[in-house]
Amino acid sequence: MKTTISEVGKYVEQIITMGVWLANKRSSGKIAFLQLRDGTGFIQGVVVKAEVEEKIFQQAKDLTQETSLYVTGVVREDERAPSGYELSVQSIEIIHEAKDYPITPKEHGTEFLMDHRHLWLRSKRQHAIMQIRNEIIRSTYEFFNENGFIKVDPPILTGSSAEGTTNLFHTKYFDEDAYLSQSGQLYMEAAAMAFNKVFSFGPTFRAEKSKTRRHLIEFWMIEPEMAFMDHEESLVLQESYVSYVVQAVLSNCKLELKALDRDISKLEKIKAPFPRISYDDAIEFLKEREYDIKWGEDFGAPHETAIAEHYDMPVFIVNYPKDIKAFYMKPHPTRDDVVLCADLIAPEGYGEIIGGSQRIDDEKLLKDRYEEHNLSEDAYQWYMDLRKYGSVPHSGFGLGLERTVAWLSGTEHVRETIPFPRLLNRLYP
Ligand code: 4AD
Ligand code: MG
Repeated sequence: MKTTISEVGKYVEQIITMGVWLANKRSSGKIAFLQLRDGTGFIQGVVVKAEVEEKIFQQAKDLTQETSLYVTGVVREDERAPSGYELSVQSIEIIHEAKDYPITPKEHGTEFLMDHRHLWLRSKRQHAIMQIRNEIIRSTYEFFNENGFIKVDPPILTGSSAEGTTNLFHTKYFDEDAYLSQSGQLYMEAAAMAFNKVFSFGPTFRAEKSKTRRHLIEFWMIEPEMAFMDHEESLVLQESYVSYVVQAVLSNCKLELKALDRDISKLEKIKAPFPRISYDDAIEFLKEREYDIKWGEDFGAPHETAIAEHYDMPVFIVNYPKDIKAFYMKPHPTRDDVVLCADLIAPEGYGEIIGGSQRIDDEKLLKDRYEEHNLSEDAYQWYMDLRKYGSVPHSGFGLGLERTVAWLSGTEHVRETIPFPRLLNRLYP
């Protein structure tokens, strides 16, 4: 029976064949332990000299790292194995012999690993992180589909900016100027007026010169947008979405969380509702703790971490000053210096994972904002139309996938949370 490592549980005490790579091996004169992987998982193959032909034992002992092979053997249940199974190897058929695989089981520096990212992805740790990434994506689609959202795909090549003009990726669109999308939001607002509740999932680009453990040049965002929903209702949706994803990862990525040594007790208590603190109170909180910050300034990573540590839960910071936020955010009903927005800060120092707001739905107010933000109204004519023809209160948010993967997998740096990271000074591989 030809199968995969993920399916071996169905074939206990039966003979199976699998296509695999040799991840690592250990051997003595009498027995060889082969660490095998096939992309669906990892399993140990045991070759006992006394039980197989001499030629097969020798072949197993000589296998080099990352050689591809078909292995045939009997599946055994084994409590000590992380996956619960082991393979008693009967025969081996080499497909392709790998020579001098550069990533050996010894420690390598980060730059070396990043240069070999195309191979590094095969490691157990990277495998676990990518499985968690996939589970977040899978449960995101499930959550929004179950809650009456439809997926809409905004364009990547755009003629206008959504999140300020400082980090735009410029390109030519034949004779016109164009930019890679920083956010699909403006298009999602149009989609919400057509389909009510929508979400997108796609790559976004920011030419950020910052070299931090939270910033990528190309990252993936999940952007829901909801017609007839105010900011308060949006916060409730956000906390229920994030809780759902955390629970899905806990239920469906047990092996991966274990492989990464993730302290899951920290994730198990993540349940809606999440605490909220106003921007005003957050500034006071920081000042009391001797941070050098004034009202009107944006938070840096140390500020966010201090706030997050205090709550030990994801925390919403609500109602930021209008001057440090995007042009489209709706002003607070009783204060004109702050807007109806929130950032969701992940616990354990992983930083802001969601930025969201209620959007301006008044035509005149939006016009004023273009002027204040030095944006050319021409590029936003279509966006203005949404305020001309049946404008309604609406809200939305964007969740950064890589920061969420970093948080749930307990990965220090976002460069390990996307298959091929685009970083400052890194476009290879
Ligand atoms: O807070 P941001 O800039 O919000 C927006 O783009 C809104 N238009 C979203 C919306 O309302 N539809 O970005 C949203 C999230 C951040 O909270 C963060 O998690 C992530 O995107 N993010 C980044 N992740 C990795 N690298 C970067 N350079 C990021 N910039 C933002
Ligand atoms: Mg933000």
